[in-house]
Amino acid sequence: MSRKEPEIIVCDGSLPLYSRAAAAFMALVRAFQEEKGRVNVALCGGSTPLPLYGILASEPFRERITWDGVRFFWGDERCVPPEHEQSNYGGAAAVLFEKTGVEEKNIHRIKGELGQEAATAYELELKRAFGLGAGEFPVFDLMLLGMGADGHTASLFPHSPALDEEKKMVTSQYVEKLASRRITLTPPVIQKAANIIFLVMGAEKAPALRAVLEGPFDAHALPAALTLKAEGRVRWFVDKPAASLLSVAHSKTL
Ligand code: 6PG
Repeated sequence: MSRKEPEIIVCDGSLPLYSRAAAAFMALVRAFQEEKGRVNVALCGGSTPLPLYGILASEPFRERITWDGVRFFWGDERCVPPEHEQSNYGGAAAVLFEKTGVEEKNIHRIKGELGQEAATAYELELKRAFGLGAGEFPVFDLMLLGMGADGHTASLFPHSPALDEEKKMVTSQYVEKLASRRITLTPPVIQKAANIIFLVMGAEKAPALRAVLEGPFDAHALPAALTLKAEGRVRWFVDKPAASLLSVAHSKTL
């Protein structure tokens, strides 16, 4: 399969970035609902996506999206209870689910409170929810991803053993520099997503963004680079500070 080049959308400020990302989210949700009556979305964690979730839960998006057809999953989770302030599920529940009335049956959270066992539990949840046979991977219709200043994405951190995982869908990693355990989808699952939308903001991420998009390929040093081998469409919604080191040819500013 010929891989498509990632699309870099440089936005002049947070409001244009989130508005365009929300429009892209809504367009994808509608297209998949029209095609198959439902859409499987993997949310990402961290702070960057929260304003997007808030915009989706507000007018005009809230009314225009048929939420009942959307099944929510996560690309990663911290090993904390759902009510913990660090919970990726907790952030989305507060900002998105409570305001859009997403039903429990459509929320497939990673049970971070189980610790290491959460990885096995989530793998079973994915097999059941996607009706997977042996050796099959889930194909998310849309996966949201962020990127850290070190080039990590989901909870795949530089030089993590999880970056070489080819069989499991979900792994648990103890992240030394965060002194915490994380649960994350593995590279094959991320690379199979039909659509990936990155949300990257801030000057502190500019060196990693340039290294991922314009430097030599090294997904061990820069895990976000594994999406350069993704099978689907990859769009990067970035603000000007994060894009400040990119070559002009690479990006269009909106
Ligand atoms: C997480 C995320 C992680 C995040 C990046 C960027 O659980 O923290 O999945 O990959 O996207 O760390 O985080 P910020 O958006 O907070 O900068």
